[in-house]
Amino acid sequence: MRRLYIFDTTLRDGEQSLGITLNANEKLEVARQLVKLGVDVIEAGFPASSPGDAEAVNLIAREVKGVSICGLTRAVESDIDCCAQALRGAEYPRIHTGIGVSPVHMEKKLKLAPERVLEVAVAAVKHAKKYVGDVEFYAEDAFRSDRSFLAAVIESAIMAGATVVNIPDTVGYATPFEYEELISYLMHNVRGIEKVVVSVHCHDDLGMSTANSLAGILAGAGQVEGAINGIGERAGNTSLEEVIMAVYTRRNQYGLEMRVNTREIAATSRLVARVTGVPVPAHKAIVGAGAFMHASGIHQDGVLKDRLTYEIIKPEIIGGLRSTISLSARSGRHALRHRLQEMGYQLYEDELERVYQQFLQLADLKKEIFNEDLHALMGMPGGNSNWITLKNIAVATSGVSTATATVSVDIDDTGCMDAACGNGPVDAVFNAIDRLTGLEVRLEDYSLSSVTRGSEALGEATVKLRSGEQGLVVGKGISTDVIEASAKAYVNALNKIKR
Ligand code: KIV
Ligand code: ZN
Repeated sequence: MRRLYIFDTTLRDGEQSLGITLNANEKLEVARQLVKLGVDVIEAGFPASSPGDAEAVNLIAREVKGVSICGLTRAVESDIDCCAQALRGAEYPRIHTGIGVSPVHMEKKLKLAPERVLEVAVAAVKHAKKYVGDVEFYAEDAFRSDRSFLAAVIESAIMAGATVVNIPDTVGYATPFEYEELISYLMHNVRGIEKVVVSVHCHDDLGMSTANSLAGILAGAGQVEGAINGIGERAGNTSLEEVIMAVYTRRNQYGLEMRVNTREIAATSRLVARVTGVPVPAHKAIVGAGAFMHASGIHQDGVLKDRLTYEIIKPEIIGGLRSTISLSARSGRHALRHRLQEMGYQLYEDELERVYQQFLQLADLKKEIFNEDLHALMGMPGGNSNWITLKNIAVATSGVSTATATVSVDIDDTGCMDAACGNGPVDAVFNAIDRLTGLEVRLEDYSLSSVTRGSEALGEATVKLRSGEQGLVVGKGISTDVIEASAKAYVNALNKIKR
């Protein structure tokens, strides 16, 4: 079997492009989950882009073992030096350096002649080699480059010491047939390519990144790059979970071996959605809430007779669960703990108690508690040492859109109350909270989604607040009352700003 290496760039290409700065601890939490998932390489960030990113890469390098930790650089000495510093402490450090090679990148962005680009590429690889043995070279916008020039650059990078060569379709312009042809061309026309790992890195602008990655793998690439949930710039990166499950589901045809634990896919997807605040669309392949639901009568009938009629993947394989025991207000701690364990959550007694109390509050409002509700509860903050705690909300509406909200909170354990008007109830609540805190924040985004279905479904609100000190932070709140969920999300984001 041929080995396929999984290179995760959720924390670099995925996160950076969203404009959300995950803090170092959030990045560490994701990196630890990626280790559970069993990826081979974690691209933890672009250290030269900001001191915060360098710090996060260094934290991950020191704390996360058993996997390669990689940092991105431009083909610039100071970037490479900074990256090497950030990777100190890593068990398997990798520097990922490179330069644009397409005519538009060379002429318009870099303003360098092709011969000079080739020299800069070689110098960057050689410089990175002074620090680490494992150097990956990327030829940015490779797909739109001149084939023979690309082959020359890749060959020179290999001669300079690159161990992995990355052939990105940076703008997601390729189609599977063409991308397969490009990888195949390089496999046959670059001297020394058999000694290194060829990597595919595709973007989803035309919705073909997974197909293109698979085409590149079939042509001989040994590493695939992507982000969990396909997050990233513009239309995003290749969804790593899609490639993993395509290779797994079609393993008899592809004969590729990976070391991933597919059962961690659902948990990884949920964590990434929670920390980035980028929700997973319901119809998203593999990890969407509806990916394993059978709605029409004909399909339900077929699945009940034999699930193979309409299912190509058992939900259990990705860590999803078919629940058998129903949880309600009558369920005890034992039943809750059992279900949470089945779902992959291990809780200490005090955590279980906190979740159980939240569970009971919810169960008072809903007849049945589903796994999705529990995942939402588990994703919520503990609420013990918060700067601001929500106590009460009363909203009065008048006319079509005007509303007045009266909000009570504890700030630093002191109770206070204020009221404000707004363009609708949620706006009024946010305005009242702003009056209470006096913080300078800007609401960049607000969204509300239903965790389960039906009129008593749990609503999950997400707010993105920008503050001078912390940049963009994401807050989450859940409740069967959407105004309360929104207020909780707002307060959660404020607590992160004050942390
Ligand atoms: O899309 C791309 O070309 C990249 C490189 C920087 C690796 O992300
Ligand atoms: Zn990219």
